[in-house]
Amino acid sequence: MTSLPASMTAIAIREPGGPDVLVPEARPVPQPGPGEVLIRVAAAGVNRPDVLQRMGFYPPPPGASDLPGLEVAGTVVAVGPGGDPELSGQAVCALVAGGGYAEYCLAPVGSCLPVPAGFSMAEAAALPETVFTVWHNLFERAYVREGETVLIHGGTSGIGTTAIGLCKLFGIRTIVTCGSGDKCAAATALGADLAVDYSGQDYVEAVKAFTGGKGVNVVLDMVGGDYVPRNLECLADDGRHVTIAFQRGAKVEIDISQVMRRRLTLTGSTLRARSAEFKALLADEIHRTLWPRLSNGGWKPAMDRSFPLAEASAAHARMQAGAHVGKIVLTIAD
Ligand SMILES: NC(=O)c1ccc[n+]([C@@H]2O[C@H](COP(=O)([O-])OP(=O)(O)OC[C@H]3O[C@@H](n4cnc5c(N)ncnc54)[C@H](OP(=O)(O)O)[C@@H]3O)[C@@H](O)[C@H]2O)c1
Repeated sequence: MTSLPASMTAIAIREPGGPDVLVPEARPVPQPGPGEVLIRVAAAGVNRPDVLQRMGFYPPPPGASDLPGLEVAGTVVAVGPGGDPELSGQAVCALVAGGGYAEYCLAPVGSCLPVPAGFSMAEAAALPETVFTVWHNLFERAYVREGETVLIHGGTSGIGTTAIGLCKLFGIRTIVTCGSGDKCAAATALGADLAVDYSGQDYVEAVKAFTGGKGVNVVLDMVGGDYVPRNLECLADDGRHVTIAFQRGAKVEIDISQVMRRRLTLTGSTLRARSAEFKALLADEIHRTLWPRLSNGGWKPAMDRSFPLAEASAAHARMQAGAHVGKIVLTIAD
């Protein structure tokens, strides 16, 4: 195995604040422990939770790196004690609980997946966070199935674009909401069956019209607040409502009799703090079920823009400006 440097460049959060608090720093290259591998990072995905962490609203869970970055793609360069030496040299993408904005990153072996055939490192780095989140929430918690219809808010977000893609792969219809006509056009081009511009149209009425008054089977909600009672109006009988964020507030007022009369299910989850064992089970299911379809050219993530690692602050500024469509990625020159 090639020898590793003692230190690396990473992007640290100097203090809570705006994009310019992201600063390059020299850090020791971490050593993998049992059950871990060290990845030489080629690309790292940028996600909204990284922005929240930078602002001081989303601290890393206990034991996680203080560096931002929840997903990477690269080459395994070291394997922890007792690990499979065959992993060394493999091209992987990985879900990590932090530390992705760096030249080297530790990952639990169970959270690594092979880079799908035909994917660039940047495309592979754009997969783990949104694929794991969408897979668990839509397919496992809301048990959506072929022939059903899902309402997805934030249709052009990283999460939204992945949800459109995965639903299309599995024969599920999608209605999305977006904040502009341009974003609606982008979401439709990515495969959404209907895109509703919420700045000028009532999405509840649009959903009712599109579904012939029946409603959708599932809502994937990242908005919360006053959206939740309106989302429940969109649900068909036996519908499932999944909360993954609450950008318009955590407190909601709903008519609970709806839940009884129409047998609705309210659920939700957050991925980062889940155990390594849970993430390994999820990775295994995704590998068996989704990966064969990706390698056959079935779906690739919608890529917005790539920035060099040193320009992480510009990547965050772009995400915060909100004009992006799909995934923003940091790349590291070899
Ligand atoms: N629970 C979990 O495990 C988990 C994991 C990953 C991400 N998340 C959450 O999922 C969300 C999306 O993450 P991402 O990385 O994909 O972020 P992103 O690409 O920055 O997307 C954020 C989206 O939120 C929409 N939005 C913002 N404010 C809104 C409002 N007031 N009303 C309606 N829509 C609004 C924006 O759409 P418009 O510009 O069209 O309004 C945008 O598409 C974030 O809230 C993130 O924290 C949760």
